[in-house]
Amino acid sequence: MSRYKVTVVGAGMVGGTLAQRLAERGYADVVLVDIVEGLPQGKALDIAEAAPVCGYDSAVIGSNGYEESAGSHVVVITSGVARKPGMSRDDLLKTNAGIVREVTEQVRRTSPDAILIVVSNPLDAMVTLAHRVSGFPKQRVVGMAGVLDTARYRTFIARELGVSVEDVHGFVLGGHGDQMVPLPRYTTVAGIPLAQLMAPERIEAIVERTRQGGGEIVSLLKTGSAYYAPSASVVAMVDAILLDKKRVLPCAALLEGEYGIDGIFVGVPCVLGAGGVERIIEVGLTEEERKALHASADAVRELWEATARA
Ligand code: 2OP
Repeated sequence: MSRYKVTVVGAGMVGGTLAQRLAERGYADVVLVDIVEGLPQGKALDIAEAAPVCGYDSAVIGSNGYEESAGSHVVVITSGVARKPGMSRDDLLKTNAGIVREVTEQVRRTSPDAILIVVSNPLDAMVTLAHRVSGFPKQRVVGMAGVLDTARYRTFIARELGVSVEDVHGFVLGGHGDQMVPLPRYTTVAGIPLAQLMAPERIEAIVERTRQGGGEIVSLLKTGSAYYAPSASVVAMVDAILLDKKRVLPCAALLEGEYGIDGIFVGVPCVLGAGGVERIIEVGLTEEERKALHASADAVRELWEATARA
């Protein structure tokens, strides 16, 4: 049996790091695509030359076109410009909408059966756009944000409590923006509700830091945005899909009435398996949580409407 094929579009820091992480998993050949001449070829060759040392046999190929990527099982779109300090995700909208539209058209042509994972920002609007342009069924288009936002949230909680990150569980609902909704009521440490271990004001501080998590990295790096945690988050989703793990992960999925939201992609807990987004899980929310989720979804809808006009 041959290996799976995963295409990563965009050979920037997220795309390059993702190609490396995927190659190291060993279960898929990786095609790295970028319009910049030499960049995907150079990064792919570099990753391939690490294989004898690290011990993986995945083929890693760089290309400026899409023919090499034809028939991919999963395509990850990371293309787009990254935020500069002081720039909001929304400022990126116009430039990245054009890029994501063009990439999606190429993917539709060359890998019509793929599951599409969108990473480009502003995430929720870009994944909604990719869904429309691809014409793929909603199960085969998903956005990566919730795994990353939740990873940041888990990191902050684990550090504060001095416990293993592995034992902190929870999820973040809503759009990948300043109004995302971490849910302390559904957060546990090895099954123990967070509220029994941490004071309310410390929880609130961590919720706020999570909301600003992407911007915190941008202001530290000064040029570019996060890529280690974003690429790791995509790998968790690719694992769930290609290994049919049925993992419950927060992802941007098309809502059609779930949570009282319709027609846009917003972060919700999803069952991710070989079929893509196989199920959306609806959890009970308090009035306050519901309001916060709807405020976040309203912000996504505004962005989407601006994207559709762009
Ligand atoms: C992040 O959250 C830039 O959206 C990206 O790191």
